[in-house]
Amino acid sequence: MTATWKSWPNLFHICLLLCATGAVSQNFLLEPRSTTVLQGSKVQFSATVEGKWNVMTWTVGKLLVLTVLSGGNITSSGQYSARFCPGGDTSCVEFTIHNVTRQQSGEVICFVQGEYGSKIAHLYVQESGTVNIVGGNVTVAQDQQVEFQCLTTGWFPEPTVSWTLSGQDVNSSLYNTTSMTDGDTFNSSSVFKFQAVHNTTVECLATVPTLPNPQSSSVLLVVVPKPTDWTVLIAVVVSFGGFALLVLLILGIIFCYKRRKEKRKAPIISALIQLTLCSKSQISWW
Ligand SMILES: *[C@@H]1O[C@H](CO)[C@@H](O)[C@H](O)[C@H]1NC(C)=O
Ligand SMILES: *[C@@H]1O[C@H](CO)[C@@H](O)[C@H](O)[C@H]1NC(C)=O
Ligand SMILES: *[C@@H]1O[C@H](CO)[C@@H](O)[C@H](O)[C@H]1NC(C)=O
Ligand SMILES: *[C@@H]1O[C@H](CO)[C@@H](O)[C@H](O)[C@H]1NC(C)=O
Ligand SMILES: *[C@@H]1O[C@H](CO)[C@@H](O)[C@H](O)[C@H]1NC(C)=O
Ligand SMILES: *[C@@H]1O[C@H](CO)[C@@H](O)[C@H](O)[C@H]1NC(C)=O
Ligand SMILES: *[C@@H]1O[C@H](CO)[C@@H](O)[C@H](O)[C@H]1NC(C)=O
Repeated sequence: MTATWKSWPNLFHICLLLCATGAVSQNFLLEPRSTTVLQGSKVQFSATVEGKWNVMTWTVGKLLVLTVLSGGNITSSGQYSARFCPGGDTSCVEFTIHNVTRQQSGEVICFVQGEYGSKIAHLYVQESGTVNIVGGNVTVAQDQQVEFQCLTTGWFPEPTVSWTLSGQDVNSSLYNTTSMTDGDTFNSSSVFKFQAVHNTTVECLATVPTLPNPQSSSVLLVVVPKPTDWTVLIAVVVSFGGFALLVLLILGIIFCYKRRKEKRKAPIISALIQLTLCSKSQISWW
C-alpha cells in the first residue's frame, strides 16, 4: 500500500512526460533520435509526418543535403538518398547516408515546411584503424622472458586492446595499454611480457563497439627447448650404462673366483669365457 502511494508522483511525472512528447511528436516523428555507426557503413533515419505536407529538407552537419517534395520524385544526391516508405506511403520518408564518414558526426536535422518545424537526431560515427605487433615472429630460448608490443593507429573512439595466446584470452592484469590522441583519432601501445614455455601464436586485438569483429595482428613465438634437457638425458644414459658395466664386472669377478675353485669341471663355453675374461683380470687382480 505504502509503495503504491509512494509511486504515485512518479507515475504522474511519467504521464506528464509521455503526454507532452506525444503531443509534440504526434504530427511529426524523426527516428532514431540517436545512433552510433561505423565509418563506411550506411545509416538510415525515418520521418513520419501526419496530415498533408509539401516540402521536407534534410540537413547533415549544417549542410542542406536533400529536399523531398511530397508530390514528386525523390532524387538522391551523392551519398544521400531518400524514398517514401514501403507502399509509396508519402506520410513516411526514409533518409539514408551511404558510406558515412566521421565528418558527418553530429546533428541530422529534418525540417518539414509549415507548422511542423524541425526535429533533430544525433549521429555518432566510429572509426576502425590498424593493429600491428611490432617485430614479427620471434625465436627465444625456453623460460626466457619475452616482450611483445602492439601498436594501434587511427581509431575513434579509443579502442579496447586485448591479447590471446594460442587463442586463449590473456588476463588483462598481464599487459599495459596506453593511448594518445591528436583530438581526431586515437593511437595506442600495449606491452605484454611473459615467460616463453611453449611454441605459441601471440595475437593482439583491437575493437570499438560498432565493429562486428575485432581487428587483429598475430605472430609466432618459437621456443627453442633448453639444452640442459639433453645433458640430463645424456647423464641418465651414461650413469645407467656405468651401473650396468659395474654389475657385469662384479659378476665376472665372482665367476672367475668360482672357476678358480672348480677348475676341473669346466665345459667348453665356460672355458672360453674364462680364457677371455679371467686371463686378463687374473693378470690385473692377482
Ligand atoms: C519522376 O521521374 C520519372 C523518371 O525519372 C519521370 O518520367 C517523371 O516525370 C517524374 N515525375 C515527376 C512527378 O517529376
Ligand atoms: C567511402 O568514402 C571514402 C572517403 O570518403 C572513400 O575513400 C571510399 O572510396 C568510399 N567507399 C565507397 C564504397 O564508396
Ligand atoms: C611468421 O611465421 C609464419 C609461419 O611460419 C609465416 O607464415 C609468417 O609469414 C611469418 N611472419 C613474419 C612477419 O615473418
Ligand atoms: C586476473 O588476474 C587477477 C590478479 O592476478 C585476478 O584477481 C583475476 O581474478 C584474474 N581474472 C581472470 C578472469 O582470471
Ligand atoms: C604496467 O605498468 C605499471 C606502471 O608502469 C607497472 O608497475 C606494471 O608492472 C606494468 N604491468 C605489466 C604487466 O607490464
Ligand atoms: C598515430 O600514429 C600515426 C602513424 O604512426 C602518426 O602519424 C600519428 O601522428 C599518431 N597520432 C598520435 C595522436 O600519436
Ligand atoms: C617449437 O617448434 C620448433 C619447430 O617449429 C621445434 O624445433 C621446437 O622444438 C618447438 N619448441 C617446443 C618447446 O616445442
